[in-house]
Amino acid sequence: MKIAICGAGTVGQGVTQILHDNHALITARTGGTIEVTVVASRSVPTDQVFKGVAYTADIHSVCRRDDVDVVVELIGGTTDAKVLIEAALGAGKSVVTANKALIAEYGDALFALAAKHEVQLRYEAAVAGSIPIIKVIQESLAGNQIGWLAGIINGTANFILTEMAATGPTRTFDEVLQEAQTLGYAEADPTFDVEGIDAAHKLTILSAIAFDQPLRLDRVEIEGISSLDPVDFKFARELGFKIKHLGVARCQAGQLEMSVHPSFVPMTAILAQIDGVQNAVLVCGDAAGEILCAGAGAGAGPTGSAVVSDLIDLVEGAAPGGGLGARAAALKPLPVRPPAEVASSYYLRISVEDQPGVMSAVTSILARRTISLDKILQEDIAPNRSFIVLVTDPIQHGVIAEAINELQEMSSVIAPVQSIRVFR
Ligand SMILES: NC(=O)c1ccc[n+]([C@@H]2O[C@H](COP(=O)([O-])OP(=O)(O)OC[C@H]3O[C@@H](n4cnc5c(N)ncnc54)[C@H](OP(=O)(O)O)[C@@H]3O)[C@@H](O)[C@H]2O)c1
Repeated sequence: MKIAICGAGTVGQGVTQILHDNHALITARTGGTIEVTVVASRSVPTDQVFKGVAYTADIHSVCRRDDVDVVVELIGGTTDAKVLIEAALGAGKSVVTANKALIAEYGDALFALAAKHEVQLRYEAAVAGSIPIIKVIQESLAGNQIGWLAGIINGTANFILTEMAATGPTRTFDEVLQEAQTLGYAEADPTFDVEGIDAAHKLTILSAIAFDQPLRLDRVEIEGISSLDPVDFKFARELGFKIKHLGVARCQAGQLEMSVHPSFVPMTAILAQIDGVQNAVLVCGDAAGEILCAGAGAGAGPTGSAVVSDLIDLVEGAAPGGGLGARAAALKPLPVRPPAEVASSYYLRISVEDQPGVMSAVTSILARRTISLDKILQEDIAPNRSFIVLVTDPIQHGVIAEAINELQEMSSVIAPVQSIRVFR
């Protein structure tokens, strides 16, 4: 099988390196060969691994070449990459991509195009780098009805949260973000990672294959991590939780819920053990029960490994997986549960002036809406000022939002109420 590598950056280099280093092993295992006939990228690649491979600056030209069976799209973005993939599929070439933004936004049309031309569009590397989560859901759990999945699917956000938890209330979000940028874990513009957009792209893809849905990025509720305060990490620890940025999707009573948000995760829960830049996805199937897949979510080797696994499927002649891919056009959207009706427990942090009756006023606002409390504590911040910290039992989001509005109107509440969902 002859392939074109489009994009000679981090992942392009990783893929080419793996194909070079493990050539004999891959040939022995698959009975076929994977040969890079051309590398197409804006600037001439300097990495040693590309030495001796034909180069072109015109990425689109690979679609017209007879010596290219498969186009590997690793340029990123949703403009040129989309044109490239459309042209490749239209020319009867299968495509492998790591581009989550493109799949989440335009995947439905691209899968339809692939089906029309009887070729494949594969995207294992688009979600959680090295972790073979697409295959696990599409193949290993194909006989299961998936009830829910929850993942730590952005390494940058997880690194920042891990550092904020480790260094206590002395370092702000901005300081830790700066460290992540220095270490190369965060982009110069970190918006996609810290505001949850990258995680939403991945959750959109996971939800589509887990619940046999079209891609529905516009229905994902998205909340980033930039508003987290160091003091929330302190209270999380005192209450027995870690703060994680989760992508959660659930199908319950025929309705779908999809959200990306910071979460209090019990310290003993398996997802709480996933620290630093690691990724993990927990999936619950009706027959299999809960399965955790964890590993490196990014980097040349880990992401390259996932791209190569798709190439191996193609050289072995594997059929496209179920859900997205084989029958994307036949997928029917489930109703999405209105966000106000989604239920979860909440952590609330309320900054108050110490006045007689403040605590009872707070609890009565909650009691009036039948919000019951699992945990409650009060801690002084300064003379006459304190935090009231609560963990509620599960309650609909619309109800807690009303309660927060009323709390906010109290004259003794002196700062915006912080609310974070609890994952159980
Ligand atoms: N890096 C990771 O760990 C990781 C993990 C999972 C998924 N991904 C996905 O993998 C894809 C590639 O990421 P990456 O980190 O490898 O990116 P990267 O290091 O920035 O590499 C992109 C390469 O594509 C070239 N390129 C970009 N636009 C082009 C265009 N219009 N025409 C020709 N060449 C173009 C760039 O050339 P120049 O150098 O000249 O700009 C560069 O060589 C993205 O979709 C990303 O989301 C990456």
